[in-house]
Amino acid sequence: MEINNINETEKCFDEDSSNIQNLEELENIRLKYLGKKGAITDIMAKFREVPVELKKEFGIKVNALKTKIENNIEQIKADLASKQIEREIKNTKMFDYSLPVDTKTGSLNPRTIIQKQVVDIFKNMGFVVEDGKEVETEYNNFESVNVPKNHPARDMQDTFWLNNGELLKTQTSAAQNRILRTYGPVCKVIFPGRVFRNEALDAKHENTFFQLEGVVVGKNVTIANLIYFEKAMLKSLFKKDIEVRLRPGFFPFTEPSYELDARCPFCGGRGCHTCGGSGWLELCPCGMIHPNVLKMAGIDPEEYNGFAFGLGFDRLVMIRTNLDDIRYLNSNNLKVMSQFKTKM
Ligand code: DAH
Repeated sequence: MEINNINETEKCFDEDSSNIQNLEELENIRLKYLGKKGAITDIMAKFREVPVELKKEFGIKVNALKTKIENNIEQIKADLASKQIEREIKNTKMFDYSLPVDTKTGSLNPRTIIQKQVVDIFKNMGFVVEDGKEVETEYNNFESVNVPKNHPARDMQDTFWLNNGELLKTQTSAAQNRILRTYGPVCKVIFPGRVFRNEALDAKHENTFFQLEGVVVGKNVTIANLIYFEKAMLKSLFKKDIEVRLRPGFFPFTEPSYELDARCPFCGGRGCHTCGGSGWLELCPCGMIHPNVLKMAGIDPEEYNGFAFGLGFDRLVMIRTNLDDIRYLNSNNLKVMSQFKTKM
């Protein structure tokens, strides 16, 4: 009778455990069979009543069933856990590594591309590349390059002044004094940088733009040396010989001062949209470094001389790409920017 009871219990357990959906149901089943008031405990309590000759068989059977129930419950627990993990994976948006790659790549700002090209060209001609600060002292930006207080030339560069009396540098020339002190009196240095002017914005004017300044100091330096370097740079940049001309100019930091123009590389001088019909492009303000600038940098102008020049990267980009509005260069207009990958 008790043996039958064991078989009955096993059948019941098989049925009960065949479709367990969660841990709560499983716990109820465990209590039903293995709990203090569970079926197995019940059966074991009847051991005493089992006739002696059946005790052994009874003992083996009930122990086997107890082990089976324990093992099955463990197994069901593990199955429920792995089903739960599967469900979580299904509900999580996983990154699909097999999806095709999005091949759209960005492009460098064309100004960065031109800057790298021009800097590399000057480097190949033996120039050292230096950096400048963006926040500068009034002395470095103006006085050290021969623009004393109240000099009318200050009006040419509307300045963003800071509360502490310093300023956002209006020209890369602001680094001349420090660089001449560091490298002079015999040196060839370029220093690209971002400059700021309190300008009214239009297609040709930005309040933030990029320049490259160059200085060459030594003995018997002439403006012919400058023309050589500029022509070599233009030839390398435009991949052809480009004629240049000098016009008189005025800058407080150079004497004499010039404007160096390049023959328009697009029309060869016949006149086109890029050069506004003149056949020439204004490219590079320059001149022989003013003796005062050399003196202020601790260089004896009786013994040494040199030239300095400026190049506007934004202008170079506009020339190279026929871009007609400088403001695009500081915009985040990706439609415009992405075109430069192929244009440069
Ligand atoms: N600093 C001038 C400007 O920003 C550009 C310039 C002119 C630089 C003549 C020079 C130079 O070195 O010789 O307008």
